[in-house]
Amino acid sequence: MDNNLNVLLIDREENSRNVIKAYLNEVEGVGIAAEFSDYESGFNLASTSGKCIVIVDISDNMDRVVTDIKTLKTSNKEAYIVALSGSNSADIIIKVLRAGARDFISKPVIKSEFLEILSNIISDIKSDKSQDSCKIISTFSNKGGIGKTSIAVNLAVELAQLTKEKVALVDLNLQLGDVATFLDMTPPFAMDYIADNINNLSEDELLKTMSRYKNTSLYVIADPLNIDKSQDITAQQIKNILTALKKIFSYIVIDIGTNIDSKTISALDYSDLILLIAIVNLPAIRSTQRCMELFDKLGYNADKIKLVLNRYMENEDIKTADIEEVVKQKVYWKIPNNYLIMMSAINKGVPVNEINPDSNVAVNYKEFASKISDYLITQKLNKNCNREVRI
Ligand SMILES: Nc1ncnc2c1ncn2[C@@H]1O[C@H](COP(=O)(O)OP(=O)(O)OP(=O)(O)O)[C@@H](O)[C@H]1O
Ligand SMILES: [Mg+2]
Repeated sequence: MDNNLNVLLIDREENSRNVIKAYLNEVEGVGIAAEFSDYESGFNLASTSGKCIVIVDISDNMDRVVTDIKTLKTSNKEAYIVALSGSNSADIIIKVLRAGARDFISKPVIKSEFLEILSNIISDIKSDKSQDSCKIISTFSNKGGIGKTSIAVNLAVELAQLTKEKVALVDLNLQLGDVATFLDMTPPFAMDYIADNINNLSEDELLKTMSRYKNTSLYVIADPLNIDKSQDITAQQIKNILTALKKIFSYIVIDIGTNIDSKTISALDYSDLILLIAIVNLPAIRSTQRCMELFDKLGYNADKIKLVLNRYMENEDIKTADIEEVVKQKVYWKIPNNYLIMMSAINKGVPVNEINPDSNVAVNYKEFASKISDYLITQKLNKNCNREVRI
């Protein structure tokens, strides 16, 4: 029996197809199933081919191919798409990866790069690693009332809106969480039920126990209704929940409580990005400094931590450069101060974009979600392709 992985090659230029075929001959475990000079036939076959690698040149008609890639990822989740293009601008790379391609290679294709990417894909397929690896983003501060929940909620809403991918929003303030209130939701199941049953829930069942926000791709896990129940939830259960969610979601946004305990640390450990939230006043900056010391002790890479200044006003007494010097971390993002809109959103139980999409905070959240998603995409690309694209 032929156990080779099928490769579908879609490229208008015959010469270019021949080069790729010659390279593929040197890759063990793959075989060319079909080659196409037109997109329609190529994507049609790919949509019914199950597990396969689709190598497609996007140079000629990028917008059309991006749409084709999106459609293919919906009809065949097991298609691993590698996009080729004569242009390697960061904008194009991000667009195509956001559409669902796993990798990007610029043309002319360099053999060593091609072989490395193919071998990474094959090893991922063999180890059954999910290709759309989920990213966990946490909002954290050891100070209360600083904007952690506002940021987690609005960012999660915008990520779902921007990417259209599944986003989970998890409330880890197990005693007095606000996430459900901020979105005016009354989830029938909360963290305690999910924690108790996580080992017995199928992916489908887990999704059904979560509450979908309106008609979006955002799903919420709220804090337990009953405070007593929160004490029974263990760090191991939190790990199990996050592991299970990673198989279903593209992004998990966690609103982490201010308490530093084993549950918080589990969630922080699991996070790909920690948004360390500060506001511009001395006590908050001191607390932020302490958080950085904690992260240092926990051995976190500097890249994992992104310092976010909330309620920012131009002409603050304390300058950004001074904060950066004290905290020893660059400021990654600033969210403007807009108490009226933020409060109105909380009181109505909606994200800020529903209060006024043109307000400075709503626009800022949209840009923030885009920056984070672009950053995570380029990180993934740099890891896969072993090279540097910077956002
Ligand atoms: N950008 C902003 N501009 C003005 N006010 C803001 C902004 N972001 C949040 N706030 C306000 O700050 C207050 C605290 O916000 P939030 O509940 O999100 O903080 P938190 O850190 O989650 O608090 P807790 O520690 O109690 O969970 C709220 O009244 C909210 O409206
Ligand atoms: Mg909160």
